[in-house]
Amino acid sequence: MAEIASSEPTRRDFLYIATGAVGAVGLGAAIWPFISQMNPDASTLALSTVEVDISQVAEGQSITVKWRGKPVFIRHRTAQEISEAKAVSLDQLIDPVARNENLPAEAPATDENRSAKGKEPWLVMIGICTHLGCVPLGQQGDYDGWFCPCHGSQYDSAGRVRHGPAPENMHIPAYEFISDTTVRIG
Ligand code: FES
Repeated sequence: MAEIASSEPTRRDFLYIATGAVGAVGLGAAIWPFISQMNPDASTLALSTVEVDISQVAEGQSITVKWRGKPVFIRHRTAQEISEAKAVSLDQLIDPVARNENLPAEAPATDENRSAKGKEPWLVMIGICTHLGCVPLGQQGDYDGWFCPCHGSQYDSAGRVRHGPAPENMHIPAYEFISDTTVRIG
């Protein structure tokens, strides 16, 4: 995992690549200029919202951005990962609630309610294990999703907990696509 951080001590946003996929280093190089172009006002604003250029995130890749001090996973899912997530019925889930800030609190954890509206391949969620707060590792585990090395929780390709002590699906923050290639989180 490569990590790229700003040289400016006051800048709090950073991102790192959370995938071993080929091209990850190039991806970081492509995205970093976008962040580094942010002016001071925008940098302050980044404490509440962050805009992310996802144009270079290829299918099968993920990036992690920092938002309000938390890691946010943005994953461009493959067709297989989507179909696996869709094939899961709600009664197979440990947590049947979507945990999606963009939907009513009781919305069920269908794949549709977990992925981006109108942009099914994209998953945007807070990368914090709901057990005790570790950051799960992507593209690992038995469900083509995430594995939390702290106590073994596993999440599927929709970020729903499927195994282990974590009580809830990873949470989805308020976000929207403000263009085909830009996501605003917060
Ligand atoms: Fe993730 Fe305990 S913090 S399983």
